[in-house]
Amino acid sequence: MKENVFGSLIMQDGDAAISGVSVRALADQYGTPLYIYDENTLTSTMDAYMDEFRSDEFETRVVYATKAFNCKAMLKLCDAHGLYCDAVSLGEIYTAKRAGIDLSKIYFHGNNKTAFELNRAFEYGVGTIIVDSKEEAEKLVSVAKDHPETSMRTLIRVNPLIEAHTHKHIQTAAPDSKFGIPIMMKERLLETIAILQSADNIHFAGLHCHIGSQLFELEPYIKAVEELADLALDLESSLSSSIEEIDLGGGFGVWYTDADTPNPIALTCKTILDACNTVFKEKGITPKIVTIEPGRSIVAEAGYLLYTVTMIKQSLKDKFYFVDGGMSDLIRPALYQAEYTADLIGDSANEEKELVTIGGKCCESGDIVIRDIMLPPAKEGDLLLIYSAGAYGYAMASNYNKQPLPGVVFVKDGQTRLVIRPQTLDEMIERECD
Ligand code: LLP
Repeated sequence: MKENVFGSLIMQDGDAAISGVSVRALADQYGTPLYIYDENTLTSTMDAYMDEFRSDEFETRVVYATKAFNCKAMLKLCDAHGLYCDAVSLGEIYTAKRAGIDLSKIYFHGNNKTAFELNRAFEYGVGTIIVDSKEEAEKLVSVAKDHPETSMRTLIRVNPLIEAHTHKHIQTAAPDSKFGIPIMMKERLLETIAILQSADNIHFAGLHCHIGSQLFELEPYIKAVEELADLALDLESSLSSSIEEIDLGGGFGVWYTDADTPNPIALTCKTILDACNTVFKEKGITPKIVTIEPGRSIVAEAGYLLYTVTMIKQSLKDKFYFVDGGMSDLIRPALYQAEYTADLIGDSANEEKELVTIGGKCCESGDIVIRDIMLPPAKEGDLLLIYSAGAYGYAMASNYNKQPLPGVVFVKDGQTRLVIRPQTLDEMIERECD
């Protein structure tokens, strides 16, 4: 367990408490697998971003990338703490609508928005659309004609071609990326802006980029500020309007294992703000708004995934602790070779540790939750708590192997609230026709 990260977790003999709530009691009441979020950690992280990402020179916006963990309760928390939210699908926008949050604070992203989704964005009063391509600009202009009374704010997503050291699948600024308009395609960018500006009810407000995810280096963000500022200056010389907003995306790394060295939020924010102050002055540009879009770093470390050990098997090489879930509720290990840390919660928690592998129950060799971890001897019925499971865990869960989706609870100061009910077997098949 990492010191200081899990401030509200206390290991007790045969049990653990998160923010004063017994993990064993949660397992008894809601079953496992179960996602548990420490609400105080969620809100203090949001507040840290809101406090640290502030400037006297320009307005600052913190947009939570809801794809990391999206549900009504989470979106309401963001709204209450002053964050904007990004959405990448009608489903995410609809969740925000049903959560009752202010949809003018939604940033609508995605490389392949449908006309249906764009229409709904106008109808629902979505605040900002991040246009990914010239083709999307054309589609948006055509949709905008059906909503003459509604004005839509837009940013254009630029691929700044900045190398980011992370897993290939979560790099987004590589030359072969499907996202955005490559930064050197200035003609294409100007054409896209001209298309947007051809509609009376579309406002072109600025530039967006997102360089990748789970990044520990801050240098690429400084580079992104420089690249976008250069581009803004260049575009402004050809446009009658100025670039109002520069949105630098998210991607700030978090702790999963001791190999990970996340930057404090204050340092991340200061580095980006300092770079903006220096570079904007140097180039003589004056954007009114600077935006960041953290997803993972708001939810990862606040979230835990609780399993029950359901079988212990000695195989040729590995000793397996099998748990009652796996890649259906946590696909990141299988998809990205992502590594996690865990603790056993059982009577033997203080006994000598041995090298084991945590295996899931899906019928697939890749369904390994953690390969090679030192844990005390387990017995069936012990609980296993996976740390830093709050980002892209529940959000990427599926019914693979007809595993019902797990429930999600928020815990805070000894209180628990269920925010997503565990899916029942009947709910899982109720859409199926005979
Ligand atoms: N903004 C944009 C435009 C994005 O595409 C993303 C993430 C973010 C912000 C938030 O990035 P974050 O702060 O969460 O790193 N499923 C993968 C991660 C995919 C990230 C996609 N875009 C994973 O489990 O690692």
